[in-house]
Amino acid sequence: MPRREPNEAAAGTIAFGILYENRGKIISSAHLTEKLNVSRQAVNKIMNALRDDGLPVESVPQKGYILGDIDSCDSLSPALIEYFMKDCAPFHRFIFLHETESTQKIIKKYAQAGEDEGLAAAADLQTEGRGRRGRSWAACAGKNLTFSLLLRPNLKTGEVQLLNLAAGMAVKKTLCEATGLPFELKWPNDILRGGRKICGILSEAAGEPDKIYYAVTGIGLNINMESKDILAELAGMATSLMIETGRKWARWKLLIGILKNFAGIMDALSQKDGAAVLIDRYRRECDTIGRRVRIIQDEETICGKAVDVTREGALVAETDTGMRSFTAADVQHLRLAKEE
Ligand code: BTN
Repeated sequence: MPRREPNEAAAGTIAFGILYENRGKIISSAHLTEKLNVSRQAVNKIMNALRDDGLPVESVPQKGYILGDIDSCDSLSPALIEYFMKDCAPFHRFIFLHETESTQKIIKKYAQAGEDEGLAAAADLQTEGRGRRGRSWAACAGKNLTFSLLLRPNLKTGEVQLLNLAAGMAVKKTLCEATGLPFELKWPNDILRGGRKICGILSEAAGEPDKIYYAVTGIGLNINMESKDILAELAGMATSLMIETGRKWARWKLLIGILKNFAGIMDALSQKDGAAVLIDRYRRECDTIGRRVRIIQDEETICGKAVDVTREGALVAETDTGMRSFTAADVQHLRLAKEE
């Protein structure tokens, strides 16, 4: 099982919290044994586990432990994520895997075993990362955020698109807040910067037509990839936060930002008329609306002007053959008429 035993995981989160809330100070083993109600050996084991997860926990001989600078650390330690998410239900349980086939698969297993909504799983490397419409999602070990979330929304299976739109808005908001730069939200849920893709989102649902039993929303966000890491076939089409800003980013901070923003949007969606409110907000934030677009659906390619998004999240476009709506398609933003 990728997840730590609940007691061990909880002790790690509490221990991290004590060190973080007393940052700059040495915390004695005696204090930690008392607060965690465990032996000194157990404290030592917990501290080693935090260190193994990449946290800068230093031992000070004969004195105790002190937390180093976490701002520049690139750990995706469950203790760190769960501590900062502790008051942000439902996303306060987190699994980290160094390598897995796909975090979608991991979360689906937990969902089928009856796990509560909100569990998040991230991996440094996905060996079979999946994208929309049967495509693969390229890996770049340890540089990006690739994670999936377990959701149990009160929606019909046909409304799964709303989860995609919600996740896209949460990622766009997080990136704008973190960098102060503009990002584009392309229907249904790609995040672009200057027309190049920086984030992709995949939501899958299981249930009956009338009710989603569970949904898995997976997010792949390019963070610390350099130009040389972008696959040749994606050159000019993909980018990363590092390429755009010229600096490295702490992945854990962006993950927390996305989870918090997504929790807020999902809470709004669960309220009365939540779907209508979400769509209204999406219409304002989606950069596809009002643009000339090329729409690729199955074997068909259609050019037109994107004019609206329906209550179910479908794109409405004015085409040569009249107004048409598209529930699942690939869209390209066109800048100049000659690009069509
Ligand atoms: C797309 O734009 O095609 C969607 C890409 C979704 C990728 C993420 S990465 C985390 C999760 N695990 C996967 O295998 N896919 C999603």
